[in-house]
Amino acid sequence: MEVNFWKKLKRPIMAMAPMSGITDEAFRLMLLKYGKPDVFWTEFVSVDGLFSEKGKKYCLDILKFNPKERPIVAQIFGGDPAYFENAAKIIAELGFDGIDINMGCPNRDIEKIGGGAALIKTPELAKEIIRATKKGAGEIPVSVKTRIGYSKNEIAEWIPAILEEKVAALIIHFRVREEMFAPPAHWELAEEIIKLRDKVSPETLIIGNGDVKSVEEAKELAKNTSIDGVMFGRSILGDPWFFAQQKPTIPERLNAVIEHSEIFDDLHKEKLDKNGHYKQFDAMKKHFHSSVKGFNGAKELRESLMAVKSTDEARNLIKNFLK
Ligand SMILES: Cc1cc2nc3c(=O)[nH]c(=O)nc-3n(C[C@H](O)[C@H](O)[C@H](O)COP(=O)(O)O)c2cc1C
Repeated sequence: MEVNFWKKLKRPIMAMAPMSGITDEAFRLMLLKYGKPDVFWTEFVSVDGLFSEKGKKYCLDILKFNPKERPIVAQIFGGDPAYFENAAKIIAELGFDGIDINMGCPNRDIEKIGGGAALIKTPELAKEIIRATKKGAGEIPVSVKTRIGYSKNEIAEWIPAILEEKVAALIIHFRVREEMFAPPAHWELAEEIIKLRDKVSPETLIIGNGDVKSVEEAKELAKNTSIDGVMFGRSILGDPWFFAQQKPTIPERLNAVIEHSEIFDDLHKEKLDKNGHYKQFDAMKKHFHSSVKGFNGAKELRESLMAVKSTDEARNLIKNFLK
């Protein structure tokens, strides 16, 4: 049986981006219900964390997923190849469909340990990390998510270095590390990357990422660039209908964010106190923030939602607003 799920997907592939603090299980379950991407992605976890007694529990919590969310890829980060094999083994045992290595994150703490975007400066280490991950992954496919360079366009050296390791997929955020998230992403480089892929590793899928606002726009990009797929990050925030290409009404949107909050509570139910409060609830505020916008009264409602301490309080505010 083919275990490389990437080969079974229809192209262009529409993937959700990993976003730390956002794309947790509750968020993904909302996508599953209202508009399913072709590939799910977890938030990233530290390979060092997965190796330590204390960190492991925290990382395993992040890696929880529902068997209905498939195919699902777990993303890992770190800078020491010694930890990657162990992390990949754990992820394969957890039943993930794929493993993705983060080689693009600009976070200083991650760069300090040699991981994320810092790996663009150390291609030999990056290659060693891919090999160690593949060893631990067994049969499941390994991909890399990166950028087009550190401070300038370096695709001519950096992209072939990764492709030489025959990764199953290469996800490219079309910006250099120092551009962080500032638009516009350099999609004009897609063709050059496809050519490198055809030369060095024709089996590797190339997934483009950066600033794509809709599935329609992604399909157009795929048509014009022969890219295999597109990954979406910020555009899916507050919009579980994104992949279904539907436009919900305002009540539908507001009811959905309450549903999201209920799912979030349910996944944290062992932490709830008798008032229905728990510390992790604050993470829902980001979702209230991205869901409640673009209509009359949104600003006031959003501000009130920033002060709530439970789903019940949020539900009351929204119910009153919709009356
Ligand atoms: C809040 C936030 C968290 C992110 N966390 C991760 C992460 O854990 N791993 C990763 O590879 N990229 C992460 N990214 C980057 C996105 O995956 C994506 O590459 C970037 O947002 C550009 O795509 P977009 O323009 O479609 O948003 C994050 C981005 C944001 C905004």
